[in-house]
Amino acid sequence: MTQVKNDARPDGPTAPVGFFDSGVGGLTVLQAARRILPRENMLYFADSAHCPYGSKSADFVRGRALAVSGFLLERGAKAIVVACNSASEAALEFLRRSLPGLEFVGVEPAVKMAQRLSRNKKIGVLGTSLTLKGGRFSRLLENFSSGMEVYTQPVAGLVERIEAGGFADRRTRSILEKNLRPLLEKGIDTLVLGCTHYPVIKERIAALCGPRIEVIDTGEPVARQLRRRLLATGQLNPGPGPGRIDYFSSGDARAAAPVLRAIMADPELTVSHASA
Ligand code: DGL
Repeated sequence: MTQVKNDARPDGPTAPVGFFDSGVGGLTVLQAARRILPRENMLYFADSAHCPYGSKSADFVRGRALAVSGFLLERGAKAIVVACNSASEAALEFLRRSLPGLEFVGVEPAVKMAQRLSRNKKIGVLGTSLTLKGGRFSRLLENFSSGMEVYTQPVAGLVERIEAGGFADRRTRSILEKNLRPLLEKGIDTLVLGCTHYPVIKERIAALCGPRIEVIDTGEPVARQLRRRLLATGQLNPGPGPGRIDYFSSGDARAAAPVLRAIMADPELTVSHASA
């Protein structure tokens, strides 16, 4: 397993916040953080060479999470957002144990929010199989789903379509229709997007669900939690903003760049290749 030294971080609020995901999905969390924390400098690492995480073993994802966190730490990250449900499921506690003293913020499917929002108490959760069969997710359901019918649907192939920039094509639509059908048949009124890639196409998912179903994700709550943690540890960047964002990919950075540009709506955005 990768050895990571926890001593590269220069103290101080101007240090960047690191974000990582198996690919472009964590950008949906970074976007929410950017709205709430516009003065923060940010590093984004897309582990594209090892995408997807959700169909791999928890051990493999833990190894990747530690290696990528090491990369972000070497670049001076003062905190790391594990902007991926699969990696949070498999590796969040392991990262906290492995790198004590570094602030980690994770994500989880928005079951708590769904419990508040659902009127008929029938909710659906879309996610990767790694997330949906994990212990963290089971505990989340044990603690926050009493009185609710929760229908989970592991989705195969959608992350790869989003990585390829196929946000609106026929193959993406047919994956969505196939995976939404069983949930819609159960009469859910709230759909949780339990993978950070899915909010990239949230409007399309909502259109397929129809107006009676609320589609939710955790970008905003995670960004607010990051803000609380930075405030509590005296690490909030006082500015002046806006902070800069540097993007890295472990895969083919030239191929990844157009997809990142499309999601961030920034035609000038550049992506550097980095190994971790
Ligand atoms: N965006 C990720 C998640 O939230 C990763 C999906 C994958 O790589 O399979 O689970």
